[in-house]
Amino acid sequence: MPSLRQLFLDHLGQTSPTPLMLEIDRAEGSFLYDSNGRDYLDLISGVSVSNTGHRHPAVVAAVKEQADRYLHLMVYGEVIQSPQVRYAEKLASLLPPSLQSVYFVNSGSEAIEGALKLARRHTGKHEIIYFRNAYHGSTTGALSVQGSELYRNAFRPLMPSTTMAEFNSPEASEMITKDTAAVIVEPVQAEAGVIQPEGTFLADLRHACDRHGAMLLFDEVQTGFGRTGSLFSLYRYNVIPDILVLAKALGGGMPLGAFIASREIMSSLAHNPILGHITTFGGHPVCCAAGLASLEVIVEGNLSGNAREKEHLFRQELADMPFREIRGEGLLLAVVPEDKSIIPSLVAQAPAHGLMLDYFLFCDEAFRIAPPLTISPDEIRLACQRLKTLTEAVSFPV
Ligand SMILES: Cc1ncc(COP(=O)(O)O)c(C=O)c1O
Repeated sequence: MPSLRQLFLDHLGQTSPTPLMLEIDRAEGSFLYDSNGRDYLDLISGVSVSNTGHRHPAVVAAVKEQADRYLHLMVYGEVIQSPQVRYAEKLASLLPPSLQSVYFVNSGSEAIEGALKLARRHTGKHEIIYFRNAYHGSTTGALSVQGSELYRNAFRPLMPSTTMAEFNSPEASEMITKDTAAVIVEPVQAEAGVIQPEGTFLADLRHACDRHGAMLLFDEVQTGFGRTGSLFSLYRYNVIPDILVLAKALGGGMPLGAFIASREIMSSLAHNPILGHITTFGGHPVCCAAGLASLEVIVEGNLSGNAREKEHLFRQELADMPFREIRGEGLLLAVVPEDKSIIPSLVAQAPAHGLMLDYFLFCDEAFRIAPPLTISPDEIRLACQRLKTLTEAVSFPV
């Protein structure tokens, strides 16, 4: 009988020649457990998904309760499904008054597609500006605004009328003209290795968009839901986009994405033609129930504020290790070792030391620390102890 490992290689489409291949049996809080009962402290959160930890009891209860009522009923947008409505209302209550209409989809990429379509449809223009080392997803539209030539080149031709700008460059806002439909930007670039916006960069984009009738799109797929120390980065930088894109932690561990705009802007998708964007499973009731429960945990437990305290504890515990820099705020951190050549070994050997670590897509000088926001101070100390042993093991192999 072939092992699960062998079947995984034989029958699952692979994304790289070197998958992690941990066989996880269950997960709880900040830990994953393999079939032998070994624990792995999760410093990835499934890439900024499990902000309330794995299987938070409130999320599991909401999933069970909704599964007992109904699963899929009808394609998105036709039937009143209380989990969608309640979740949209909650999100609207936590967002600025211009972001009140929530369009639920299944994933971050799909939300990006919807947001780009909405911006083009509403402005009647087609040019999109995006940034170097931006990651917005893997579908063709999202890939067309991805800031890495390596990935784009392999899949040309892509969507036309897209122009790349440099993140944090003052020239970026000067590239916005009357022909620009939208500027799409992660307020904090995640896969670029946690690059924060400097000075008035985001505000300048906002002003230039206003001047030229272009839309500002914020991709908060990774930064949202408290990860960077405020509920959404738009509050941290005090810049309000026309369209906000959310996913990952939005579903509390279930697949869910959303793009959010004013009711007026969003209405563009409902006429000329009607059904301008449609989805069968978008806003699945079980995912919305899970997401709402997770968001309530984040807000009631002030997990975003706590993320800053936890960041400080990480910084304190990592201070005497051979790391040159720790970038980021809250619990989206990029750790830059003095010797970047140890990163592949750090990530590969992390599981043997009871840790889950990850790279960034577009930054080879750092590794990621992005644990569940529910991680406890003791778990942070344990993670840092394990990281210390791991760093010593890869720096001075016997
Ligand atoms: C900033 C950002 N936007 C969009 C996406 C795409 O989300 P998904 O993988 O759910 O399609 C990701 C995924 O990593 C992301 O990090």
